[in-house]
Amino acid sequence: MMNEKELLEWYLAAGVDVICGDVPGCLRQNVSPPKAALPTAIAEENVARPAITDLAQMSLKACKNARDICEASATLEELRAAAEAFEGCSLKLTSNKTVFGGGNSQAKIMIIGEAPGADEDRIGEPFVGRSGHLLDKMLAAIGLDRSKVYITNVLPWRPPGNRTPTDAEVAVCLPFLRRQIELLKPEIIVVLGGSAANSLLDNKETISRLRGKWQEYQTAKGDSVAVLASFHPAYLLRNAAQKAKVWADLLLLAKKLQNN
Ligand code: URA
Repeated sequence: MMNEKELLEWYLAAGVDVICGDVPGCLRQNVSPPKAALPTAIAEENVARPAITDLAQMSLKACKNARDICEASATLEELRAAAEAFEGCSLKLTSNKTVFGGGNSQAKIMIIGEAPGADEDRIGEPFVGRSGHLLDKMLAAIGLDRSKVYITNVLPWRPPGNRTPTDAEVAVCLPFLRRQIELLKPEIIVVLGGSAANSLLDNKETISRLRGKWQEYQTAKGDSVAVLASFHPAYLLRNAAQKAKVWADLLLLAKKLQNN
């Protein structure tokens, strides 16, 4: 039999590191799971259950709302405030901070990761944990640092336990990223990891196929931005053997900066 400390450690090891409350979030939001999955006392409560089509409608509405809010944001600071006030993404319920973006907003280079992790969620800045330290070393290897780049993520809110974001979560957060790109007008985007690259470039290619070459991103305003995808630093921390490929990507970036 586990004691309470062992049970908590077991939860942490399983990736359960957020406690939202005694009642499942789906009930608090008036969206109920199948009754069979609930303890009898809760199942017997008369909870309104939107049909699946209603949920899809809610999701579409949230995306449209996000797009409208983003379009109406004329500056980066307005967009940051809009993200902080936005209630259309359920990830916000389980995170501590809206991690919008940081670094030099005048920079030529924009770096895009997937989503904040535990450290970023605690501090409110992107890439401040172990992955961030490795990212700093990668930048330093070609003479860059945070004063020369702007850093953001596809999602401004941490998915619980760092799970991969769902398509619906990505869809509702993408307008905030796309508008950041329009407002900051970077010359170069470096996108880290397969999930972020797929979201930005709207494809399903593996990161191994996407990395190592220049691609293009078109803004809704018709501007074209050069994009370089590479492995995510978190992946490199687990697979040091891939560092040579990331070095090759960094050299591509350094060459492009010399020629620009
Ligand atoms: N991983 C990311 O993709 N982004 C962060 O900000 C931190 C870790």
